[in-house]
Amino acid sequence: MEPGPVILVTTRHRGIPNVMTNGFNMMVRHAPPLIACTIGPWDHRYRALVETGECVVSVPTADMAATVVDIGNCSGADVDKFEEFDLTAVPGEQVQAPLVAECFANIECRVADTSLVAPYSLFVLEPVRAWTDPSQPQPQLFHHRGDGTFTLDGPTIDLKDRMTKWQYLL
Ligand SMILES: Cc1cc2nc3c(=O)[nH]c(=O)nc-3n(C[C@H](O)[C@H](O)[C@H](O)COP(=O)(O)O)c2cc1C
Repeated sequence: MEPGPVILVTTRHRGIPNVMTNGFNMMVRHAPPLIACTIGPWDHRYRALVETGECVVSVPTADMAATVVDIGNCSGADVDKFEEFDLTAVPGEQVQAPLVAECFANIECRVADTSLVAPYSLFVLEPVRAWTDPSQPQPQLFHHRGDGTFTLDGPTIDLKDRMTKWQYLL
């Protein structure tokens, strides 16, 4: 089974921005929208997320995959990852955590539920503002298979005409 696309999760803790790679995430609900991400206590970002209750989910495209893996192989405790990986931090509107300008989409989030953090390191996030880059109309996302291999998004098929019970989603 594959999770959602590989994402970057940014935070700002005591004024310092940080970014981590996250492969284990999923959509939880359409409306109001919720996203769930597994973020383990081994990550520097874990404490930032617990203490600030805010983050940005930044969605990179497949051409950024190697950099995204490198971001996931170091810690903000040791290195300024925005500087190290030439990422451009852009201020958000609703949260203190920065957007990543190089990413196709940026979703400002607030932590909505922490009841699954202790048993599963699973943060439930509520998007409060979303941005997409209009210069990337057909972004190719990628999914982590859990072992350093990745599946790239392929062609889209449109079966909206069969979604008879779910018209309100279309
Ligand atoms: C491809 C890839 C996927 C990863 N997925 C996750 C994940 O889903 N959850 C997690 O807690 N860490 C994940 N990591 C590890 C974190 O990105 C890594 O611990 C990161 O360095 C944490 O940075 P920080 O200490 O600055 O928070 C992943 C790493 C890679 C390379």
